[in-house]
Order: sequence, then C-alpha cells, then structure tokens
Amino acid sequence: MTTAQHLNTQFGINGELKFREDASGLIVAEISNGQASASLCLQGAHLMTWKPNSQAVPVIWLSRDAKLAAGKSIRGGVPVCWPWFGAHASESAFPGHGYARTVPWQVVESGTEPDGATHLTLRLVQSEKTRSQWPHAGTLDLTVTVGETLRMELATENTGATDFVIGEALHTYFRVGDIGGGRVKGLDGCDYWDKAGGSALRKQSGAISFSGETDRVYINTAAGCVIEDDKLGRRIHVAKSGSLSTVVWTPWTEKAAKMGDLGQPEGWREMVCVESGNAIENVVNVAAGTRHTLIVEYQVELL
Ligand code: BG6
Repeated sequence: MTTAQHLNTQFGINGELKFREDASGLIVAEISNGQASASLCLQGAHLMTWKPNSQAVPVIWLSRDAKLAAGKSIRGGVPVCWPWFGAHASESAFPGHGYARTVPWQVVESGTEPDGATHLTLRLVQSEKTRSQWPHAGTLDLTVTVGETLRMELATENTGATDFVIGEALHTYFRVGDIGGGRVKGLDGCDYWDKAGGSALRKQSGAISFSGETDRVYINTAAGCVIEDDKLGRRIHVAKSGSLSTVVWTPWTEKAAKMGDLGQPEGWREMVCVESGNAIENVVNVAAGTRHTLIVEYQVELL
C-alpha cells in the first residue's frame, strides 16, 4: 500500500509539495509556493482548495460540511466527472457523474515550473469495478498546476483498437461573496438544457444572474466565462479548451436543504458551479489510438 511517507520520498518537493494522511485514511497533497496554496485528495484526484496569495478569500469553494470518506465524493472543490456526466445513459445503478471522483488515483509525476508554479499529475487506477462500468481500454490523467493561475488538464487516452465515447466535466465550485450579488458572463446567445426548468432547450439572453435554483447545460460553446462578484469585488476568469459544454449550477434553498452537506445555514449562497466539459450532445468520440484533452485555466482580477 502506498503511504504518505512513500509519496513524500518519491514526489515530495521540499517546502512546496507534501503528502499527508487524513483522519479518514485518504491521502491529501498540500501545495504551497510563492504564488498560491492548494490541496488535493488523491481519491478522485479531487482538488479541494486553491487560494492565490494575492487573495484574502479562497477562489475554490469547499463546503464547511465536506467529509473525506473512502468511496464518497467530496462536496466542493473540483470533482472530476468522467466517463459520463450526470446520470448514466442506460444504467440507473451506476453513479451520477461517473466513477472517477470516487476511486483511487495514483501520483505519476510532480515538479516545479520555471515561473515557480507547482504541478502534479495523477492517473486513475482501473479496477474490476471500474471495468464493469466502463469496459474500454483507456487511461485518464489529471495534471494540476498551482500558481497565481490554476490550470487543470484532464487527458483521456484511447489505448485500445476501438473507438469509445465519453462525457466529462471539471465540476468547479467557485467561492463568491453572495450568489444573489453576481453574474456569469460569456454565454449570451448560447442554447442550454434547462434541467431545473422541465429539461427544455432555451437560449441565453445577456448575463446569468441568480434568484432561484439554476441547473443549466450550455451546449456547443467553446467560450470562456467570467464570474463577476460584487460583494468580494473581484472577477474570476474561466478559460477552457477541448470543451463544448458549460454547466452553471446553484441549488438554492430547497435543494440545498435536501442535499444537507452544503454548510448550514446557507453555505450554498457562497458558491456557484461553473463546469467546463462535454455533455449531452457534446459527448466526445475518442478514436482508437488517440487522446482527447480538456483544459481549464482560472484567474482572478480584483475590481
Ligand atoms: C451538477 C448537475 O453538475 O451537479 C446537478 O447539473 C447536480 O443536477 C449537481 O445536482 C451536483 O451533483 P452531485 O452528484 O455532486 O450531488
């Protein structure tokens, strides 16, 4: 079994990257450099926190009630949704958003970039269980680069002789001052599936502002987004490539109460999910012997 100690010997970087075992038994990578700090749970390759040193408040939101537990997804951070997004197309017993976020990943590489940012690459560990839900020859790697910019690169490689299709998303929970006092820009004119509104197909007009449950899958859009936050006085820039879908989600009062892990009394007001991926009609055919990469980059600008 790999221990935090082994990982520190092989991949630790003095004063910059260290691994620790959480009380749950799961291993967490802690990164701290001249530009930012971040933490990532090896289960799910789940980035939990990121705060550039220039910011007083973290940019990635982690629920106060987030729990680390074997086989369970963490509420907040950046869950990796893969190899399908949302419910499985035909198997209702398979986990929502795929299994990547709840299985072990292994560290394959770490290092320091010329500009002082820290990178870490993890690979999903296949098992009999994952193969029973997704019987294809492929690998999934996530490279996270932590600096003043956060970059995440999710690479799917088809190592087999037949094509396969994937759905995916980097399901990022962003910290905002208050969900009612901000907006998401960049999706004007885009079509979206309105999951909170009878699953109808609608067209976005102007910026997205929030006054109730919002659960939308914007399709056929390669555009980045900007989250404007009046209360914290900042803009979060979301750039992406290899992605034609953007999901915008906030649960609001009733759904948040049902979910129960968003931080009482109203933790959900301090987050908004802007997820970059490929879902519904934008699922990706990964041809035999090829590689598909989804990349996001997040940056913050003070107003
Ligand atoms: C969003 C979906 O991406 O994730 C929502 O569009 C869903 O429908 C939300 O509620 C959270 O999903 P989960 O599985 O982490 O509770």
